[in-house]
Amino acid sequence: MKCFFYFKDKSRSRKQRSAPELEEQSKSEYSEADRVTKSSHSESSRRGIPQLYEEKAHSLRVFSYKELRYATNDFSRLLKIGEGGFGSVYKGSIKPAEGEGDPVVVAIKKLNKDGLQGHKQWVAEVQFLGVVEHPNLVKLVGYCAMDGERGIQRLLIYEYMENKSLDDHIFNKAYPALPWETRLQIVLGAAQGLAYLHDGLEVQVIYRDFKASNVLLDENFKPKLSDFGLAREGPVAGRTHVSTAVVGTYGYAAPDYIETGHLTNKSDVWSFGVVLYEILTGRRSLERYRPKAEQKLLEWVKQFPANSKKFSLLMDPRLENQYSRSAARKIAKLADNCLLKSAKDRPTMSQVVERLKQIIQQPRGENSSEDSLESFENDSVDSDKNTSQMGAAESWKRRMSHLAKLGEHVEGVSRRRFMIMQSAKVP
Ligand SMILES: Nc1ncnc2c1ncn2[C@@H]1O[C@H](COP(=O)(O)OP(=O)(O)OP(=O)(O)O)[C@@H](O)[C@H]1O
Ligand SMILES: [Mg+2]
Repeated sequence: MKCFFYFKDKSRSRKQRSAPELEEQSKSEYSEADRVTKSSHSESSRRGIPQLYEEKAHSLRVFSYKELRYATNDFSRLLKIGEGGFGSVYKGSIKPAEGEGDPVVVAIKKLNKDGLQGHKQWVAEVQFLGVVEHPNLVKLVGYCAMDGERGIQRLLIYEYMENKSLDDHIFNKAYPALPWETRLQIVLGAAQGLAYLHDGLEVQVIYRDFKASNVLLDENFKPKLSDFGLAREGPVAGRTHVSTAVVGTYGYAAPDYIETGHLTNKSDVWSFGVVLYEILTGRRSLERYRPKAEQKLLEWVKQFPANSKKFSLLMDPRLENQYSRSAARKIAKLADNCLLKSAKDRPTMSQVVERLKQIIQQPRGENSSEDSLESFENDSVDSDKNTSQMGAAESWKRRMSHLAKLGEHVEGVSRRRFMIMQSAKVP
């Protein structure tokens, strides 16, 4: 399912929306807290993602385009493993960071849209993933940016996740049905990843695009969140929300956020509630091919309340009754709490984690089914050897100014495109 980009805040001038230098970006893109409610705290000492990135992101590798072409056999269709709103994802192998040893298998995401929005998402992803560190968040190995005569190239290189995404395993019938216990472990891990973003860092991070396809699964089905292109810094202390253009994915975004553009960590909690119902039912949040009354999952599940006798009719038939009915009811109730209309009544992600642990740890009998029904070139533009030799401060400065320059270039490209679109009356 693709992301939507719906720019609600018409008061923002084009200049504000256009690609800022990275320094500028720290003011306009990440700290839109200047348009938030309440209090007038001094924030001079507050460090944002760009500052944390300066401090933490030294281990990111910078790849040349050529190196990635080799890694993917010139972006061979045979190595393509997925496609999303940002671009195509390829499996590839790269040289290990130390330069010696076995090649490392990675996933390489190649931006296929030109222009500003893609570049901004790419920068956001590099910066957020350069800062965060948690077992339930995907690791960014490095990135590549090349501005040539034939346009810009932006790529992201991640650790390879053997079992693709939760989306593939619950919705794609080509895969065996995901067992109940595995589903529970996956939602617990994903909840822990979100709780870390909300509460485990110096700044609050709102993920903004929680959905089954962004929950990747490693060889042991351990979940890791990917795609930080839409992530935003949360409001600073004493403030309630960030006001922002509404972006996300239809079927997962919280109604209060869509309506007002007021973003809080409770927007992620809503999306999490949607995914809880997806793992219970095996249905997507939006399935347009179904009869009208069944298209919207959250509408459809209302017929089968957690306390009712009809509840089990809601469950994914592919589970073949191999699930704990009592745990399933509790998960549905938790989902209902996450999906409360009023954002402030929804639980925090830390509370969700605690509740999931309780549900999973309930006595075995209760959770069982009885009660239920290559080749490389040494042409890296910034080898790790160089990085370690350089002072860390100098290294990040170079990276920051490199990214800023790229931003300027994209801005230019983007303006040109904007003008072309206007004269051609492209909507
Ligand atoms: N690190 C990775 N390892 C293995 N497979 C991956 C990795 N990243 C992405 N994929 C695969 O590529 C698919 C597409 O991912 P991508 O994030 O581009 O799109 P999406 O999540 O489906 O949509 P959106 O662009 O709206 O996020 C994923 O569903 C997954 O199967
Ligand atoms: Mg994705």
